[in-house]
Amino acid sequence: MPIPAASLSTSHLLDLKAYTASDLEQVMDTAQAMHKDPASHAQSLDGCTVATLFFEPSTRTKTSFQQAARRLGARGVSVGASGSSVVKGESLKDTVQTLEALQAEVFVVRHAAAGAAHFVAQHTEGVVINAGDGARAHPTQALLDLYTLTAHYPAVRDLHVAIIGDITHSRVARSNIRALRTLGATVTVCGPPTLLPAHLSDMDVHVTHSLQDALDACDVAMLLRLQLERQRTGLFPSLHEYHTQFGITTAHLHQHPDLRIMHPGPVNRGVEIEAAVVDHERSMILDQVAHGVPVRMAVLALLAAL
Ligand code: CP
Repeated sequence: MPIPAASLSTSHLLDLKAYTASDLEQVMDTAQAMHKDPASHAQSLDGCTVATLFFEPSTRTKTSFQQAARRLGARGVSVGASGSSVVKGESLKDTVQTLEALQAEVFVVRHAAAGAAHFVAQHTEGVVINAGDGARAHPTQALLDLYTLTAHYPAVRDLHVAIIGDITHSRVARSNIRALRTLGATVTVCGPPTLLPAHLSDMDVHVTHSLQDALDACDVAMLLRLQLERQRTGLFPSLHEYHTQFGITTAHLHQHPDLRIMHPGPVNRGVEIEAAVVDHERSMILDQVAHGVPVRMAVLALLAAL
């Protein structure tokens, strides 16, 4: 299958604000084609250089972008906060423009600062893909989560997804809420009041502080890690108490026999999720990881193929 002529609503992928249902479906369809027949796309980005700029740690996103670029025939270069001239004080703008002078055409950017990918897009002629900026957006995570849901359920619009945990500090939650609502799914967010942001009423979601109520209502529970690195003060008494009130256990799976579990990773076993739930047959966590490659292939090809 040839890659469809690029017709996404934006030339970069910075967040999903401008993405319509048609954009989301185009990414899903392209990812499915890439997944079924990767060999047919092995030269889609022949000669293109994809730079991964990760200024925060990553296992899944960085590795799957690198695999996706390779499977499309692109060359990859990688820059991080350590081991680059960033440690000598080089700015983000100068780093990007240096890589552009070295022929990089696509920039995959992860940064602790919200808006970092937008900033990069203002300073390059290349294509910019946000791989997570602060607590703001992680669009490709939401796209691979949608892809995972479409692989397991007939229609995303008929689903009720509960996003449970540290919503305040979660870029994954923000991007998933946007994508799921755009496709018509029902979304409930659940967590302690201290971990739910004030502006949730603008996001067209149900809100509850009761894990039981959230699990009674949903088809899928999307669990989130407590982002302790982004929390400035203690927002709950202890990890043990968090687990007791909001952690998903095998008892919950027994009570809700159709419930499936998602988690963007990395998981903290024993905090937001009991270890046995991570490995349970109704956990879709490793599917999510695996789907990162075809979905990121699709994004790269739709945005960067000539
Ligand atoms: N889900 C996610 O972004 O994981 P990494 O931090 O490992 O990339």
